[in-house]
Amino acid sequence: SGNVTKNSTKLEGDYKRRLPQAIIIGVKKCGTRALLEYLRLHPSIKATGPEPHFFDRYYHLGLEWYSLFHILLLFLCHIDGIIPLSACRQKMPKSSEGHITIEKTPRYFVTAEVPRRICSMSKSTKLILVVRDPVTRAISDFTQAVSKGEYNDTVTFGSKAVRKNGAVNAKWSAINIGLYAYHMRRWLDYFPTENVHIVDGEHLIRNPIHELNLVQDFLGLERKITSDSIYWNSTKGFPCIVKPHKTPRYRCFKSTKGRQHSYADDYTLNLLHNFYEPHNKMFYAMVKRNFRWRA
Ligand code: A3P
Repeated sequence: SGNVTKNSTKLEGDYKRRLPQAIIIGVKKCGTRALLEYLRLHPSIKATGPEPHFFDRYYHLGLEWYSLFHILLLFLCHIDGIIPLSACRQKMPKSSEGHITIEKTPRYFVTAEVPRRICSMSKSTKLILVVRDPVTRAISDFTQAVSKGEYNDTVTFGSKAVRKNGAVNAKWSAINIGLYAYHMRRWLDYFPTENVHIVDGEHLIRNPIHELNLVQDFLGLERKITSDSIYWNSTKGFPCIVKPHKTPRYRCFKSTKGRQHSYADDYTLNLLHNFYEPHNKMFYAMVKRNFRWRA
C-alpha cells in the first residue's frame, strides 16, 4: 500500500503541475495571440498553442481533463488532419518544477461563469488581460467575421453597429465585448486587482519588450525576453519573432493578425466613441489606469 500512496502522490503532483498558474483571459482581437507567442520565448514558460476553452465550453469534463489537455493534443497530432499542423507545432512540452504553465482563451473574459470557476481551481491564478480601444477592437472583430464569411458583401460595419432608430447596437457581440467595465466587474468579484495584470495592446505592438517586462515581473519571472528575439518587420508593419536555432528563423504572425480593417464611416465612429466614453471611464477607475482612448 506504501507504493500506491507514493504513486498517487506523484500523480497528483503531475496533475497539479499541468494546471495553469496564469491565464490570458482576453480580450478578443486585442493582441492575445501575439502576447502568448512572445511569452513562449521565456525558458520558464510553457504555453498551450490552441485555445483550450476549458472554463467556458468543456468545464463539465473536469479539471483532470484540463490538465491532460496537452497530452491529448500530442496524441491527436499523430493522427493526420484532425487538428491543423500549426496547432501541433505549438503543442505544449511537458512542464516541470519551476515552470509556469499558461494558456489563452479570450472567450473567458466575457463568459459569466468563468471567474468563479477559475477561482475555484485556484484563488491565486494570475490573470492577464490585453485591452485596446473598444472601437478599434469592434472593427477588428467585424473584419474577422467578414473574412470568415459570416456577413455578405452588403453588410457594413456601420449597418451592424447602429440600429435603424439610431441607437448603438449594444447587444451585437462586436460592441458588447468592448464594454470592459461590465465584464471586468465579474472578475473583481472573485479576484483582487493585484491578481489581474493589464497589457496595453497598442503598446504591445509599438514597444513589446516594455510590456513583456511588466508581464514577466507580474509572473515573478526573471526578465529573459529581449529585443534579440523580437524585431520590427517593416513589411508586415508589426513586430515579428526570431528563433535563432529554429527553421524558419524569422517568424511573423499569420495574415489574420494585423490585417487591414473594414471601412467604418465617421458618423458611426463618432457615435461609438461617445457610447463607450462612460464605460471606458468606469474601466479606468476599476483598474486604476487611464488608457486615454479617444473620448
Ligand atoms: P488586427 O488584425 O485588427 O490589427 P488577437 O490575437 O487577440 O486576435 O489580436 C489580434 C491583434 O493583435 C491584431 O489585430 C493586431 O493588431 C495585434 N497584434 C499585436 N502584436 C502583433 C504582431 N506582432 N503581429 C500581428 N498582430 C499583432
